Amino acid sequence: MSDRPSFYVSTPIYYSNGVPHIGHAYATIIAETIARYKRFCGYDVKFSTGVDENSQKVVEKAEEAKMSPESYADMMAAKHKAVWDGLGITYTDFVRTRDPRHFAVVQEMLQRSYDSGDIYLGTYEGKYCVGCEEFKCDADLNEAGRCPLHPDREISVLSEQNYFFRLSKYQDRLLALYEARPDFVVPSHRFREVIEFVRGGLDDFSISRAGSTFGIPLPFDPEHVTYVWYDALFNYYTACTDGQERFFPADLHIVGKEILRFHAIYWPAMLWSVGLDLPANILATWFITIEGQKISKSLGNVIDPVEFSREYPRELMDLYLLHSFPVGSDGDFSIGQATHSYNAHLANNIGNLLNRFLVLTLKIGGGVSGTASDAVFLADRANMEREYVAALGRCDLRAALEAVFQFADTLNKYLDTKRPWELVSDESRHPEVADVLLHLGEGLYAMACMLMPFFPAKMEELLARIGRGDDVHRIIAGSLPLDAGIPFASRFEVAEKGVPLFARIDVSK
Ligand code: ME8
Ligand code: MG
Repeated sequence: MSDRPSFYVSTPIYYSNGVPHIGHAYATIIAETIARYKRFCGYDVKFSTGVDENSQKVVEKAEEAKMSPESYADMMAAKHKAVWDGLGITYTDFVRTRDPRHFAVVQEMLQRSYDSGDIYLGTYEGKYCVGCEEFKCDADLNEAGRCPLHPDREISVLSEQNYFFRLSKYQDRLLALYEARPDFVVPSHRFREVIEFVRGGLDDFSISRAGSTFGIPLPFDPEHVTYVWYDALFNYYTACTDGQERFFPADLHIVGKEILRFHAIYWPAMLWSVGLDLPANILATWFITIEGQKISKSLGNVIDPVEFSREYPRELMDLYLLHSFPVGSDGDFSIGQATHSYNAHLANNIGNLLNRFLVLTLKIGGGVSGTASDAVFLADRANMEREYVAALGRCDLRAALEAVFQFADTLNKYLDTKRPWELVSDESRHPEVADVLLHLGEGLYAMACMLMPFFPAKMEELLARIGRGDDVHRIIAGSLPLDAGIPFASRFEVAEKGVPLFARIDVSK
């Protein structure tokens, strides 16, 4: 067992009646980047994802496909995995809610809540959207009386004997939690909305439905199966069984806008009810539209993230999703903007700096070494590190990237001032050139280390090209922790100019 500190990050478990698109990839790529960052800070990281399978929609889709729900679910789980594997996502756990170990967990938790008096039998009558697997109040519906997220389907009216979870009992305790932990949900403006909602009062929520068979039976009344949320949320616990107990509770749940309430309100109450600890943080992401429109199969605008990352450089997708979409706000995906951002930040800014370093270093013999001493440079580099670490501490990936890009701008300006290319023809001035290049090398080195969680393949290559390939292994092993101050490399070697690290994309084509 590892003596390193543990860190557990999760994505939502995605409904398995569809295949993940760029919106799902958004949450997963955020999780991936944070998982890598934490590994590179020396943590023992658990990273769970998975599929939410026990739903009416799976049964419907299986019927359409003339398959049994079980084999349909197997097929879809494999498709989900293929997407994440195709993107090189380094999840450590893939939870399936059809898994018997998950059934066992959920049944144990239901029993615990029942025994502590938090589950009771009542009658529910209400409008229900099968698309959302959620009861709706009239205010949630559009003018046509339909769910705005699923306007193609008729809303169902259900009246049934249901088991309820006594959420109302936890209102004060939730408010006290939010008060005590001001960063429980980030970003803070989304947290404030949750708090307002809870202040407005909480209703008990239904946790079961009678008659359905494709779900987890209640241990105290097997005529009922549990309703999606009681089932789905405990996936985070299931992922921590089988010798992984030390990871629970999660350090970070990454969730989209429509499931924030379930994670920030239901989930803590459910955990209290069964006597488990609460997660440390919840990161709320908002919605991505594509060229102004909702991502939808019927609109035909679904972007397959694997295909996309083959058509364009992989870094284009990751940069764009992580840098141009402020976490917690809606954003619109446009290929034009994505390309522009890639050219500006990676091809021109960082790529160009590297290129200048390689060419000039070759001109003075292929190596530089020494101690960087320019006070302004040292202050700028330290400042970048401070901002980067602080930004990642609050899961603000955009701000972390921005800190690095600004430093790259500063370095390009530093070079424009020093103009070392004007000195290379005069050998007596080579010590001056070497000093400028040493600073540039230390700058590139620090930036490459900090961008390792974002663009690992390219940053490995960058480090190798400046003669620091060995440090890649130290970063990956967590023995050059990114949050503890990037050391100075003091020696750089260049073997060849090579092709551009980030090839510019021609937008005129
Ligand atoms: O809600 N923009 O699963 P789901 C940004 N099974 N993010 C998007 C998005 C978009 N257009 N579309 C989807 C469920 N997402 C439940 C979760 S967790 C215990 C159970 C992302 O397949 C976003 O993170 O509907 C959202 O929360 C998630 O996919 C929902 O996936
Ligand atoms: Mg959804």
